[in-house]
Amino acid sequence: MLAILSVLCLYLTNPVCGVIQRLLCTFKDSCDCDFKPNIRDLEWDLYKNVYGQHLAQDIVSEEVARFLQNNNPERPLVLSFHGSSGTGKTLVSSMLGNHLYGSAMSSPYVHQFVPTLHFPYPDQVNEYREELKSWVQGNLTECARSVFFFDEMEKMPPGLIDVLQPFLGPSHVVFGTNYRKAIYVFIGSTGEEVINKMALENRQSGGDRDEIKWADLQEAIAQAAYNSNSSGFFHSSIIQHNYITRFVPFLPLSRRHVERCVHSQLCQRGSCGRSDVVEAVGGDMIYTPVKGHYFSSTGCKAVPAKINLFL
Ligand SMILES: *[C@@H]1O[C@H](CO)[C@@H](O)[C@H](O)[C@H]1NC(C)=O
Ligand SMILES: *[C@@H]1O[C@H](CO)[C@@H](O)[C@H](O)[C@H]1NC(C)=O
Repeated sequence: MLAILSVLCLYLTNPVCGVIQRLLCTFKDSCDCDFKPNIRDLEWDLYKNVYGQHLAQDIVSEEVARFLQNNNPERPLVLSFHGSSGTGKTLVSSMLGNHLYGSAMSSPYVHQFVPTLHFPYPDQVNEYREELKSWVQGNLTECARSVFFFDEMEKMPPGLIDVLQPFLGPSHVVFGTNYRKAIYVFIGSTGEEVINKMALENRQSGGDRDEIKWADLQEAIAQAAYNSNSSGFFHSSIIQHNYITRFVPFLPLSRRHVERCVHSQLCQRGSCGRSDVVEAVGGDMIYTPVKGHYFSSTGCKAVPAKINLFL
C-alpha cells in the first residue's frame, strides 16, 4: 500500500501526499511511518554531547546525511566503530538509532546483536549463521529501512558475520528484495592499538588532536580487524570486498574530555555547579602511558560510579 502511495506521490503535491500518508499510518504499523530521520538533531547531538571525537562526529553525520538524501542508494550504509572502551561508541550508536525512528532505539526496526547474548558458543557458528541470515533477511523483508547494530565485534565468533555479505554489497536484489536501504553498524574495540598509537604520537609531538585524519587510520584499522584472530572480522570477506563504507575511529580521551563527561552527567542530575566533583573524578581516573599520563584508560566509562563516590 505504501509502495503505491510513494508512486502516487510522484504525481501529487507534497501536502496532499503527506495527508494521505498520515491517514494510512493511523491504520497500519509500518516502518515507513515510524521512519522519521532528523539529520539536524543527530548532528546537534553528536557535536554537543560527544567529547573528543572529531572523526566520529564528522564521519557519522556526513555519511548518514549522504545516505539518507539518496532515495535509491547503490548499497547499504555500513559503518564500523573502533576504539577503546569508554570512548563513546555505544553513545554514538544510540544517537543514530534515536534520530532515525520515531520510537527511537525501541523501534521494532532497530535491531541489536550482542555476541555474548546471541552467539555465545563458538562451536555453534554454523547454526548461528543460519539464524542470523534468516533474522536479517526476515527483518529486511519487513522493513527495508532496518537498522542493525552488532555490538562487541571483538567477541563475535569469526566466520559468522560473513553470512551478511550478500546483503552488504551493491547487488540490486538479493532473495527477491531490495536490501540497499538498510544501515549496519559494527561496534568493537579491535584496532584500538593502532588508534591509540596514532593519538599518542600526535600528542607527544605536541600536535593538535584535530590534526589526526581519518585517512591515516582507515587502512590500519581494516588490517587490524582482518588480521586479529579473535575479532569477528578475522579474514572476513566483508573486508576483502570493501563492503564497509567507513571505519570510524574513536580516539582515547584525555582528562579534559573525561571532565566534560563528568560535568554533563552532573548537570543531568541537577548538580551543574559542583566543579569540585568534576575535579575529584577527573583526578581519580587512571591515565596512560606512565610517562605523560595522557589518556584515561577507561575513557568515560567509570564516570557515573565515580560521581556517586564524590557527590
Ligand atoms: C528480526 O530479528 C530479530 C532479532 O533481532 C528476530 O528475533 C526476529 O525473528 C526477526 N524478524 C523476522 C521477521 O525474521
Ligand atoms: C591468535 O593469534 C595469536 C598471536 O597472533 C596466537 O598466539 C594465538 O594462538 C592465535 N589463536 C588462535 C585461536 O589461532
